[in-house]
Parts: sequence; C-alpha cells; structure tokens
Amino acid sequence: MAKILVIHGPNLNLLGTREPDVYGKVTIGEINSDLKKAAKSRGVEIEIKQSNHEGEIVDLIGKAPADKTGAILINPAAYTHTSVAIRDAIAASRVPAVEVHLSNIYAREEFRHTSLIAPVAKGQVSGFGKTSYLLGLEAAIELIKK
Ligand code: DQA
Repeated sequence: MAKILVIHGPNLNLLGTREPDVYGKVTIGEINSDLKKAAKSRGVEIEIKQSNHEGEIVDLIGKAPADKTGAILINPAAYTHTSVAIRDAIAASRVPAVEVHLSNIYAREEFRHTSLIAPVAKGQVSGFGKTSYLLGLEAAIELIKK
C-alpha cells in the first residue's frame, strides 16, 4: 500500500508551550507518536515532517508522487491563509490531501476564516486538537485504499 506523508507547518514545532489557551498542552512529539501508533495498528506506513519554510513544504509535496505517497495529511498552519504556492503544489501533485487544524479556524480571527488550501484538499478537519490529526489520518487511510 502507498504511504501517507504527514506535514506540520510553521511554528507547530513549538506546540506545548505555544499559546496553550488556543492549542492546548499537546506537543508535536505526542501527536507524532499517536499518529505512528494509529498507522501501525492499521498497517499503514507514514512519514512525518515539520517545516517552518514555505519552499521546503512545496518541495516535500512536489516529491510526494515519485515517493509513492498515496495521501498527504497536512496542517499548513499560518500558510493555510497565505500560501498560493502550497495550494498550487497540492493541485499539481494530484496526491489527495487532508487538511487539519488543531483549533477551529472559523471560530477565531477573521483572517483565519479563509483557507487557500481547502479548495484543493479532499476535506478538512478543524477544531479537535490532537484528534483532528487522528480523524484526518482515518480519512487519509480511506483515500489510499481507493
Ligand atoms: C493552525 C491554525 C492556523 O491559523 C495557525 O496559524 C496555526 C495553527 C491550527 O492547527 O489550529 O499555526 O493551523
């Protein structure tokens, strides 16, 4: 079976100490270990990356088809609201993407209400903390089974 590529965008390396009132106390390490456990129990291979750099994320997405990636699970973080480049990379790759957010972006500042990624994603999970990633993983597994 094809693998799932998980991409965490900018500042998500700071989870745990970053605005805990918004993002909770969960760390990226805890999220990753839960994702790995869930993937293992489903017999699915996952690869996890975090980057604070837009171009690096574009490169990761660009390499995905050649890398036998069947689906991308992405939290584009702040780039959700700004990055035409990441949106175009997803569209160009033709690898199905699931967009996830820890916080409910629609319940926050108005500038977070627009996702440039959503129109090229298969779907979006927003607002459930770490569970957003686990629900997103379920969706990504369904996509690679197709
Ligand atoms: C986020 C929401 C974004 O608006 C924000 O810039 C982030 C994290 C989330 O997971 O809730 O960095 O993607």
